[in-house]
Amino acid sequence: MASYIIEGGKVLKGSTLVSGSKNASLPIIAASILSGKTTKLYHVPDIYDIKFTLEILKVLGCKIKKTKDKIIIDSANIKTHEIPDKLMREMRSSIILAGAIIGRFKNATFSYPGGCDIGSRPIDLHLEGFRKLGINIEENAGFIKCSCDKIVPAEIHLAFPSVGATENLMLATVLAEGETTIINAAMEPEIQDLQNMLNKMGAKISGAGTNVIKINGVKELKDVSYNIMPDRIEAGTLLCAAAITGGEITLENVIPTHINPVLSKLSECGCQLDIGKNEIKMKAPKKLLATEIKTMPYPGFPTDMQSVFGAMLTTAKGTSVIIENIFENRYKYTDELKRMGAKVTIEGKMAVIKGIRKLSGAEVKATDLRGGAALVTAALSAHGKTKVNHIEHILRGYENLDEKLRSLGANIQKEEGE
Ligand code: UD1
Repeated sequence: MASYIIEGGKVLKGSTLVSGSKNASLPIIAASILSGKTTKLYHVPDIYDIKFTLEILKVLGCKIKKTKDKIIIDSANIKTHEIPDKLMREMRSSIILAGAIIGRFKNATFSYPGGCDIGSRPIDLHLEGFRKLGINIEENAGFIKCSCDKIVPAEIHLAFPSVGATENLMLATVLAEGETTIINAAMEPEIQDLQNMLNKMGAKISGAGTNVIKINGVKELKDVSYNIMPDRIEAGTLLCAAAITGGEITLENVIPTHINPVLSKLSECGCQLDIGKNEIKMKAPKKLLATEIKTMPYPGFPTDMQSVFGAMLTTAKGTSVIIENIFENRYKYTDELKRMGAKVTIEGKMAVIKGIRKLSGAEVKATDLRGGAALVTAALSAHGKTKVNHIEHILRGYENLDEKLRSLGANIQKEEGE
């Protein structure tokens, strides 16, 4: 168990680069399975979730080479279509590999995925979509076996715009003969990044970024080199981390339109923003103002920013209200924030945060990826020392978070556990 030790009270200043997106990298790595050729990916973040995904690809039979600036995946010699249960449990997004394996080989076996404990995370929409494509699904002793002679294109109406189900259905149908339409598709920027990468490989997909995506199957895909888009959640996290300290920072390698709802809330909280094409300059006030947030599918306020924003609001002037509409168990971090003196009450989907003057350092534990980042955010402005335990959750999704925060002036050290 590793920990972060944070001495609060340093005002963050300076500039930092945003890393490549975790949530774009994961389906794009899955897409590399489809071609049976070579995929070169730039700006893939160096984080645990990527490590686990590449581990699964290796078990399937892919050859993987990492250089300083890229990852090269050769999927020519895949020998098994079964995702090992142990790795499947490590993270939820491993389900994305299923669509790619079925898309290429017409069969795949996997178990129920694991991941952050932020509420029940069913895969019914994924499986329902697969069935509509003529894929036969057998469930036995926790394992799901998918198979078909050929994938039958279909019009699939998602009951909810699930990010993962949208991506999985795109991956499953890229090589199917005919046109598949996904209606009520998720509109997240990561889905556009997946479409762009697949089209660069030779796929014929249109509509990503809107709620109707059309996939016209192609016979084969080719080698590709692709730059992963910047991580919008990391960008938002760094802005909140600076804002709670009353800091002034510049983010580089960011696509500001991807985080419009976050920027508009930061502005409501009193932050001054100067927005360029790929850069954001932010100056926070000495005391932030309270606000109200409702998480929604894109282009609404992202659920992945809810906890970090919630932590930031613990010392804002006034009472803030958050409504979490996407995941039902995403307030665990607030129990840890209470150890630092935060005044938070939870009722169902709603959190009410009464801003206090200052948090106090305490020993707390990361309960999930974004909840962990929320504790780091809180600790940066707290009085005294905070120890954040179980940071393996944070390392799943943030590349060099401690290093980046140190470069902005934070006093944060990583302590390796036993
Ligand atoms: C992705 C992101 C995650 C983000 C989430 C919502 C990745 C790797 N992860 O997760 O960071 O928090 O989008 O923006 O990209 N649902 C069902 N049945 C299903 C699938 C989903 O009921 O088959 C429900 C979920 O329980 C949840 C909601 O739909 O309540 C959203 O889930 P989904 O959009 O699928 O999120 P993920 O793809 O898991």
